[in-house]
Amino acid sequence: MADLINDPISGTSIPEPGKKSHPKRIRVVPDSLKKFRDITALAAAGGPPEKIAAQKKKGKLTARERISYLVDEGSFQEIGLLMESRCTDFGIKDKHIKGDGVVTGFARVNGRPIALFSEDFTQLGGSLGRTHADKIANIMDMALEARMPVIGILDSGGARIQEGVDSLDGYGEIFYRNTKSSGIIPQISVIVGPCAGGAVYSPALTDFVFMVKGISNMFVTGPEVVKAATGEEVDFETLGGSMTHASKSGVCHFVANSEPDCFRQLKELISFLPQSRYEAPPAHETKDPVDRKILLLEKLCEVDPRKPYRVHHIIWWLSDDHRFLEVHHDFAKNIVVGFMRLGGQTVGVVANNPAHMAGALDINASDKAARFIRFLNNFNIPILTLVDVPGYWPGVAQEHGGIIRHGAKLLYAYSEASVPKVTLVLRKAYGGAYIAMSSKFLHGDLNFSLPSAEIAVMGPRGAIEILYSRQIKEAKDEERDALRVKLAKEYSDKFASPYQTASTGSLDEVIEPATARPRLIEAFRFLSNKRRPGTHERTGNIPL
Ligand code: HXC
Repeated sequence: MADLINDPISGTSIPEPGKKSHPKRIRVVPDSLKKFRDITALAAAGGPPEKIAAQKKKGKLTARERISYLVDEGSFQEIGLLMESRCTDFGIKDKHIKGDGVVTGFARVNGRPIALFSEDFTQLGGSLGRTHADKIANIMDMALEARMPVIGILDSGGARIQEGVDSLDGYGEIFYRNTKSSGIIPQISVIVGPCAGGAVYSPALTDFVFMVKGISNMFVTGPEVVKAATGEEVDFETLGGSMTHASKSGVCHFVANSEPDCFRQLKELISFLPQSRYEAPPAHETKDPVDRKILLLEKLCEVDPRKPYRVHHIIWWLSDDHRFLEVHHDFAKNIVVGFMRLGGQTVGVVANNPAHMAGALDINASDKAARFIRFLNNFNIPILTLVDVPGYWPGVAQEHGGIIRHGAKLLYAYSEASVPKVTLVLRKAYGGAYIAMSSKFLHGDLNFSLPSAEIAVMGPRGAIEILYSRQIKEAKDEERDALRVKLAKEYSDKFASPYQTASTGSLDEVIEPATARPRLIEAFRFLSNKRRPGTHERTGNIPL
């Protein structure tokens, strides 16, 4: 057999010149390629094996595993794999930590491009040094220019202590970009580990925050500092765990039971959204008939108006294929917001929920709905409002907490929104809350009601006590209750129905309940090209 030599051009083995024979070709990898492969493999491995083992012990995925759960197989294009910290203090540079604790790049989710970053806790605790911040800022800049969503996966000890102010400035770079991109491209944060100190403000500036039970924490000051400052003793989970932020603070929009569950929910959310404010949300094919009848709405007309029910049932029946992605499920349950499709098109739903606080509006409900409406308006998503609201929740705590200031946000958000707005009054619509819930004179486009709707300044019981206070006081004790019943009936007959409102044009149509689905689908189709003149300027999605 002829001797073989390495061909530097092809990288394969060839016979020595002058010797014929064509044996099996043995591939010899050139040194440069070998070096490249070794470096990139080492970099892609993340932190040392013991740190990866510690990560797994906590029940957490690695930064790259998270990406693989999120993106289409083989679609991830990494940017900045080889970047390292330039910090010379504390020997950080000598450690040659490639990637500097964060994986950044582009990928596809269900075929559509996204930009992402995924912090790697196994490298320096995912702490944010200047290079780490530069990588995130770079990907955010490209996403804004190329008009695609940015997904941030956060698992970090916060500002890298060794890099001092440089790392704080790095956060400044990110916060600035979060704000600059707000309302232009969707920004979503996934918290899958610690997120402490000022670091929490990047997720808070984004549109949606996901957390996972048992592994996610967010707080400005941790349990130790809280104890030193206030004497309160609290553990990580109670202070800043997923359920705390989902149900109490409202920081978290989606809670998942596990990381895979979290990425599944995230993909579903992305499927409802456009790539940027310059596009419409994607249409989805559905076999669900447009004219599917909803007998539940007929039933609602028979129900005692004081009886609570979960508005989710109505949303579920209205939506294509009975699919509804609820946002903020555990926060301000008196109002329900989320995404559904009608006739294949994404629609954002805002609905009073009589099952909780009778569906009344309060501070948290106003904030929750207002921010969601502003998101929808920024991203060309039409708004369906389902109304069953007895009024504002009364009380000193609400007044002193600023229900006036917070309630005003809801009026502002609906008035500002220039996307198609269709409203369906299911039952009660009283007083200021009737106006707030996308009423005709906040420029709701099409306002429908069921025959069961009661639209008035206030409910019959309260109204008669004011209108007929003298007659009620002067009535004999034994006749007073009967008088109240009679007056309340008269009031209800006149005002607690949709007909007076329809007669003045404050309502466009009273509709046959079972036909609500085709009516709503047709309404949104009819309005699909609508944009109010002069309202195309950008408004950011400021945290409310
Ligand atoms: C540098 C850090 C770090 C940080 C963690 N590490 N946080 N290195 N800067 N901020 C390192 C640890 O030294 C350790 O390195 C490795 O990451 C893993 O950390 P552990 O403590 O071993 O992990 P664990 O026990 O799981 O605890 C995780 C933790 C804890 C709860 C996050 O590390 C922690 O409390 N870190 C500090 C959190 C914090 O206060 N950050 C600053 C917030 S202020 P080795 O070498 O041992 O593997 C802030 C300001 C932002 O972020 C302001 C923006 C305007």
